[in-house]
Amino acid sequence: MAESKTQQRGLGKELREALASFWDGSVRWDAPMAEYCTLRAGGRAAAMVVVDDQAGLSRLIKWLTAQDIRRRVIGRGSNILVSSRGFDGVVIVLGRGFCEIKPEQALTGEAEKYLVRAGAGCSAAGFLGWCVRQGLTGLEFMAGIPGSVGGAVCMNAGAWGKETGQVVETVCLVDRRGGYHELGEDTVVFAYRSMQFKKPEYEQSIVTGAVFRLRPGNQRQIIETCRRHVAARKEKQPAGAASAGSFFKNPPGDSAGRLIEAAGLKGLRRGEAMVSEKHANFIVNMGNATADDIMALAREVQSRVFEQSGIHLEPEVHLL
Ligand code: EPU
Repeated sequence: MAESKTQQRGLGKELREALASFWDGSVRWDAPMAEYCTLRAGGRAAAMVVVDDQAGLSRLIKWLTAQDIRRRVIGRGSNILVSSRGFDGVVIVLGRGFCEIKPEQALTGEAEKYLVRAGAGCSAAGFLGWCVRQGLTGLEFMAGIPGSVGGAVCMNAGAWGKETGQVVETVCLVDRRGGYHELGEDTVVFAYRSMQFKKPEYEQSIVTGAVFRLRPGNQRQIIETCRRHVAARKEKQPAGAASAGSFFKNPPGDSAGRLIEAAGLKGLRRGEAMVSEKHANFIVNMGNATADDIMALAREVQSRVFEQSGIHLEPEVHLL
């Protein structure tokens, strides 16, 4: 399975003390990540820090990089799973100062396009709701997609043939040395469920927000499209059950859900983790599944699909 790209050092006793004296905000030690993931499973993170503004984020990142401490930002936890062993590093959550939505110019409805800045910490649903209220079109495909704006940008979240990257003008980020940048398409590359930078200096950056390119539209039509997308999701995907959405990426020219169903794996279980009967590319937590159950089930799915079809399914869910 794909492992996350992280830095090297975990948080031993000494580094915990160093973090406690360096960071003036609060730290949640041994944070139970099941509380922060939509799969409702996972081990503990050695430390969790909520950062409220950009200056604080720059300061923290610079320090973590200097100490070579493993770190990871999470949004709303809708596409991650922390192993049962836990994550021996610092989990960063973007707080209040990263939840703003601000148009770059007055929304008179007369221009052909509008640029709107949204913080990485906003929920994707909240941002879409804002666009609907303003009568801005372009983000309707997001209706029903869980997660944060930051997550949607980093994952290039998509549905119904549209993707986040298609409406992103610039990505705002803090690099690993703490520097702030706004990067456009000459540096940022969106691909299926991924976003990457063309220059190595931006590796391990933290996305703090993005500027979106939207158009004025008919509010009633925008609402109608959103409703249609939500209804289609309800019909095809298990609603209500704890999951991380699609677990595997669709392989080129095929569909993970189709391949998993064709391998006869709907309803397959490991502990309380189950391949959804409704949509085979959803692994659902029936109640008390552990991250080990979920990962064991995912591996079993990978190997049985490979035996049947020769296709290797790659997880869409980021494993920490
Ligand atoms: N299929 C099956 N069995 C199943 C599920 C699907 O045979 O159990 C078949 C369907 O009949 C269809 C094909 O697989 O022919 C594709 O299925 P579906 O239309 O449900 O779309 P998907 O490819 O599984 C993708 C995204 C979803 C997004 C939908 C709607 C990926 C991995 N998934 O699903 O995104 O909501 O399209 O556009 O790209 C997510 O990324 O978390 C996610 C939910």
